[in-house]
Amino acid sequence: MRADHTEVLLLSNMKIRGGRRLTGTVRVDGAKNAVSPIMLAAMLAESGESTIEDAPYLTDMDHLADVVRALGGTVERRSNGALVVDASHLTGTTVPYELARKLRASIWAAGPLLARTGQFHVPLPGGCNIGERPVDQHIKGFEALGATVSIEHGYVEGHVEGRLRGARVYFDLVSVGATINTMMAATLAEGVTVIENAAKEPEVVDLASYLNKMGACVRGAGTDIIRIEGVERLEGVTHTVIPDRIEAGTYMIAAAITRGDVYVERAIYNHLSSLCAKLREAGVTVEDDITGIRVSVDRELRAIDLKTLPHPGFPTDLQAQMLALLTTVPGTSIITETLFENRYMHVSELRRMGADVKIEGRTAIVEGVRELTSAQVNATDLRAAAALVLSGLAAEGETTVSGLEHLDRGYSRLTEKLRALGAHITRSDDTEIPLRLVGAN
Ligand code: UD1
Repeated sequence: MRADHTEVLLLSNMKIRGGRRLTGTVRVDGAKNAVSPIMLAAMLAESGESTIEDAPYLTDMDHLADVVRALGGTVERRSNGALVVDASHLTGTTVPYELARKLRASIWAAGPLLARTGQFHVPLPGGCNIGERPVDQHIKGFEALGATVSIEHGYVEGHVEGRLRGARVYFDLVSVGATINTMMAATLAEGVTVIENAAKEPEVVDLASYLNKMGACVRGAGTDIIRIEGVERLEGVTHTVIPDRIEAGTYMIAAAITRGDVYVERAIYNHLSSLCAKLREAGVTVEDDITGIRVSVDRELRAIDLKTLPHPGFPTDLQAQMLALLTTVPGTSIITETLFENRYMHVSELRRMGADVKIEGRTAIVEGVRELTSAQVNATDLRAAAALVLSGLAAEGETTVSGLEHLDRGYSRLTEKLRALGAHITRSDDTEIPLRLVGAN
């Protein structure tokens, strides 16, 4: 079934007839980047199943379910959308290469495996379309906790005699991945672990609250010092994940690029304050209330500068979408990408739609154009795909976007949601839900 779905996707495309203002309400799903580590953290539980509520229907969830199954756990999708993970009987410690190469998040199997079984064998994630993406800080965290880690035949391998031991870990740079892996491993260590220069992303906080429900003792998540007091055992629990701030941000930018008026239900202002600030600077009206954020445009927009940074700075995962918006705004905008060295893959495709963007190292210089024009474009990574769709919504004529397999990693029911806001958009394959996880184990 999977091969069929992937084959269909490779041939599929999306057609967008642009130039329509988006209006109405859109509801965001649960956060992919919160569900991903939580599905793997569920392997820390010696007993009981974990029910992850509000898990989005995305191919990444499908692939992570395969990782958990390869290690002996079970994953099931309930009819209400919840994912149920039971890893009380783990049978393996090796993540197969074919699974790991599909998504980098599989490196997060390492922390739970190390804590629970005393060893892990996880393929060294290769580079990807957006950059090199090393894992030296993940390794630094495991070694601080007493593990021996080596790289053999393309695998990162780790083992520890007895239990991990709590320690002080200082990260040389702010890494979401390394913070998450070390935090998960430390929950079952003997004694106290202190992570300094920790990532403060909302997904780190959500993982910490899931771990605490399981019986862990994690304090300070959301600040740059996280303190974890190790416990003897953890149990499966039910957890509802936070809404996806990147999906929310993408719809907020969709409203702005079409000069529309959209209420993004479940968007959380505290998770999106940098985007709200930058949209306001550009002249967009942004109003937040307790259940969401409304974005509307009633005046000429102006060029701005922005720099991607770890949270609460501007998220790199919204850089491509914001760049797409700025190609339609008069004047010169300057974007600096500080997190990933190769995250301008969308620019050459946007140029084919008439965008005027120059890249100099990590900086993009964007000259706003009067109008984007339709073209056939191909997405090379998840957020680049979103940027192309947004540009298609703004462009005159019919834009065709291929590379939808990237889009389906991070946006569920995108065409349905955009259509409900008034977009003219269709998909050749007419299916957006990865089929395998619906009910199947
Ligand atoms: C996560 C998100 C991704 C987001 C990124 C930054 C998931 C599944 N992915 O990725 O969508 O774009 O955070 O917000 O949640 N680095 C090192 N050594 C390490 C680890 C990281 O040098 O050991 C570098 C990376 O190359 C990058 C920077 O640190 O330049 C930030 O990476 P990190 O925060 O770890 O990103 P991910 O966890 O991979």
